[in-house]
Amino acid sequence: MTATRIDGKAFAAGVRARVAERVARLKEEQGIVPGLAVVLVGEDPASEVYVRNKGKQTVEVGMNSFEHKLPAETSEAELLDLIGKLNADPAVHGILVQLPLPGHLNSDLVINAIDPAKDVDGFHISNVGLLGTGQKAMVPCTPLGCLMMLRDHLGSLSGLNAVVVGRSNIVGKPMAQLLLGDSCTVTIAHSRTKDLAALCRGADILVAAVGRPEMITGDFVKPGATVIDVGINRVPGRNGILGDCHFDSCAEVAGAITPVPGGVGPMTIACLLANTLTACCRANGLPEPEGLTA
Ligand code: GUN
Repeated sequence: MTATRIDGKAFAAGVRARVAERVARLKEEQGIVPGLAVVLVGEDPASEVYVRNKGKQTVEVGMNSFEHKLPAETSEAELLDLIGKLNADPAVHGILVQLPLPGHLNSDLVINAIDPAKDVDGFHISNVGLLGTGQKAMVPCTPLGCLMMLRDHLGSLSGLNAVVVGRSNIVGKPMAQLLLGDSCTVTIAHSRTKDLAALCRGADILVAAVGRPEMITGDFVKPGATVIDVGINRVPGRNGILGDCHFDSCAEVAGAITPVPGGVGPMTIACLLANTLTACCRANGLPEPEGLTA
């Protein structure tokens, strides 16, 4: 292996420490405690693990964590009623509705009922529009985490060729917007892209967010490129989780690469905490935390 391994676990710990430091100051100087409300509908085991981790880390950085666990058969009206109450609650600065929701609930409708200023996932249509037009938005956590690691590793991203493989609303599209905001030349590729390997070989920054285990191999990578692997894939018969990149062959060619696990994954919750802090500062007319926003 020749590539530098970008340690997302350590980076995320650093982000949480910076969040905790500002939270402590907010408490001491203003008497304000940021609060994050997480809403979980139903009993999806993976979601329960995520929600538990979010709650634990929220408390660890000194914020208030409000968990709302609702039964799978909760009606849309009941869920919208809870969101309305959280929107109106001044102790709640961030609201996250864990996805996926049970099939009878319209996710778009539910997400768009959240006050955009409290939408710490950055999924509300207003935040999508603000990000797309280069205005101050709440930015989705996973792409924000990728951006922070890229800036830390590369310094300025200006003029670099970036290829984002994957066009999801949660990762691919906002990632492309963020890279464009940092003056990269951005291409979004996907499953129908012709000669994907050749396209990716032109990338100084390659972000893999396709959800296909080990699809990106070393022959997709430009020598010295920075590779960010967003994949979290479980494959029967293989232990643990696999990324979208075949780590060993990519690491032979890349200049730097994030591993799976221990790369992008830990950054998602760290950025959720950063977004909650940002939302709290904005709500109180205080300066935003430095280096923790796009
Ligand atoms: N489910 C899995 N990841 C996420 C996330 O980042 N936000 C929400 N709301 N649901 C998720």
